[in-house]
Amino acid sequence: MSQGTTSSTKPQVHATVEAVRSAVLAAKRDGRRVGFVPTMGALHAGHLSLIRIARRECDFVVVSIFVNPTQFGPHEDLSRYPRPLNADLAMCTGEGVDAVYLPATETMYPPEFATCVEVTGLSDVLEGAHRPGHFRGVTTVVLKLFQVVPADVTYFGQKDYQQQTLIRRMVADLNLPIEIRTCPTVRESDGLALSSRNVYLSADERQSALAPSRCLKLAEDRLRGGDRDLPAIRRAMFDLLAATPHVRPDYATLIHPDTLEEVSHVLPTLVAVVAARVGATRLIDNQIIEGI
Ligand code: PAF
Repeated sequence: MSQGTTSSTKPQVHATVEAVRSAVLAAKRDGRRVGFVPTMGALHAGHLSLIRIARRECDFVVVSIFVNPTQFGPHEDLSRYPRPLNADLAMCTGEGVDAVYLPATETMYPPEFATCVEVTGLSDVLEGAHRPGHFRGVTTVVLKLFQVVPADVTYFGQKDYQQQTLIRRMVADLNLPIEIRTCPTVRESDGLALSSRNVYLSADERQSALAPSRCLKLAEDRLRGGDRDLPAIRRAMFDLLAATPHVRPDYATLIHPDTLEEVSHVLPTLVAVVAARVGATRLIDNQIIEGI
């Protein structure tokens, strides 16, 4: 890589702020709509669906690959998080990505780095309650990425429902000139939501990892069947998780789509959310339930 840039038919790979920003600004000067897909790499079909939507909707597509240390807790999987860089770059090439931003950790966080952004309230519940500091790390890095990659539109997966809610709040609160698109969760044929962490699951755990999506289906079926006893539905969701071998539930509940508060009565739209450890792997999933 010279000046943080490689290549011809492959995407340009930029390691520096200046290189990626000037590529994006040049595309915009040419009147091209720029789409941005932030990732931590270990790309799977879920990421590829975001990239494909971006490719369809935009003229210039940027993917960032950065395993962000500040969103991992001290006992989480930062050091073993998968980093299959060559495979990731090959996938970006296959999807016709125009530019990849691949910063070093010191580029994102130089030694004197001292600024964080936090969406208060929304950061403290659900995932935030189980992973203190996680969302401060996410919103800080995403804000930095939006500064470095001044795209027109950015793409996030619905699987990280709380993350996209927080990012929407941050973008609105800070008047950031970027549009956010939340795209459907991609699942295996048996319902397991795709996640870079699924590679950690043993064969037995892979079977147990179906419990979260089953528990979302249980909630949806009961609500669509006319059940309005939300505490009982929550209990049934939790019990389904707890009764599955290898599964330790963190939460299973029904929330307001914007405030993320637990709902006490049925709304036209609510979200079933679930988080559990399957063996040592923490999985999250959710289902937007509309029109009940
Ligand atoms: O969803 C992710 O992969 C990460 O949280 C993100 C948005 C790339 C920030 O590191």
